[in-house]
Amino acid sequence: METVVSGIRSTGKLHLGNYYGAIQNFVKMQHEYNCYFFIADLHSLTTHPTPADLHGNVKQVLVEYLAAGINPETATIYIQSDVPEVAELYLYLNMNAYLGELERSTSFKDKVRTQPDNVNAGLLTYPVLMAADIIIHKATKVPVGKDQEQHLEMARTFGNRFNRLYNRDVFPEPYAFNFSEKLVKIPGLDGKGKMGKSEGEGNAVYLSDPPEAIRKKVMRAVTDSGPTVENQKKPEEIQNLFDIIKVVSSPDTYTHFDHLYNTCQIRYGDLKKQLAEDIIIATAPIRERINDIANDTPYLRQVARHGAIKARESASKTMREVREIIGFKSF
Ligand code: TYM
Repeated sequence: METVVSGIRSTGKLHLGNYYGAIQNFVKMQHEYNCYFFIADLHSLTTHPTPADLHGNVKQVLVEYLAAGINPETATIYIQSDVPEVAELYLYLNMNAYLGELERSTSFKDKVRTQPDNVNAGLLTYPVLMAADIIIHKATKVPVGKDQEQHLEMARTFGNRFNRLYNRDVFPEPYAFNFSEKLVKIPGLDGKGKMGKSEGEGNAVYLSDPPEAIRKKVMRAVTDSGPTVENQKKPEEIQNLFDIIKVVSSPDTYTHFDHLYNTCQIRYGDLKKQLAEDIIIATAPIRERINDIANDTPYLRQVARHGAIKARESASKTMREVREIIGFKSF
């Protein structure tokens, strides 16, 4: 059976982008593959969280994984830092990851631009840690959003390089995966770019947002003054809303508003009202479970312990092989 690995950084509440890019696929894939889903708390250290924030955010993601329907009996759910073998493999892979290729990564260049006073080595080698996460379980499929595609390419590079260096076939090639064939990019509500945690208030709809907050955010989404020519191309902010409708609403709803737009009869207020209600319906089952699960500390503890044991079993098996290949042998 093919192995699947994916993770989400523990930087706070999960939003619709995380859900449609990643989690929805986790839930479906758990029945068909050998799945490992983790909470990337080591990756989140690049932004220097306080100990309390770090712990709270790890819990938040764990709760939302479970609320979304990932079954800890079916898939392995674990916290990245509970599996120290990942950090070990990251160290080995770092020896064959080169400055030039790391500096060329789009996500690194973005960070240099957006946080120029915190360009740390962890950011530079972020894709190496991500490669370690994936190849330590010898995964071939990685459910992620479009923004992670380049990281997957780098994971293949680092795995292949290790194989070539030692002339062994240890790591298979991992590929980004989405059930809908194409990788997904959910846009934000602010008219530009993707939905993201660090894009400012109002850009993201969170899975834990109450219905009133969802209505407010969607009604405030950026729009233009409306089409004036039939069948005109939609400007970015309008296309973004249609992109969200495409994943959240029914195909009929999409066709209905697309027709109104193309015939210059659209009223954005109506579109937003419908979109808000559809988001509320789509997220209801998750939202309703979040509080109950968050209050069940013994259950969370049990899930994390059980996941760590299963993940370490798989990771340490690979690491025994890797150490021996590298030449770490006892006398
Ligand atoms: P992160 O935490 O930024 O995002 C988690 C997942 O959500 C997806 N995503 C989106 N998909 C579509 N549209 C959006 N607007 C959107 N925003 C976020 C991301 O593509 C991702 O799948 N580096 C990873 C975490 C990670 C990881 C891994 C993933 C660490 N190690 C190993 C897979 C395998 C990250 O920062 O994702």
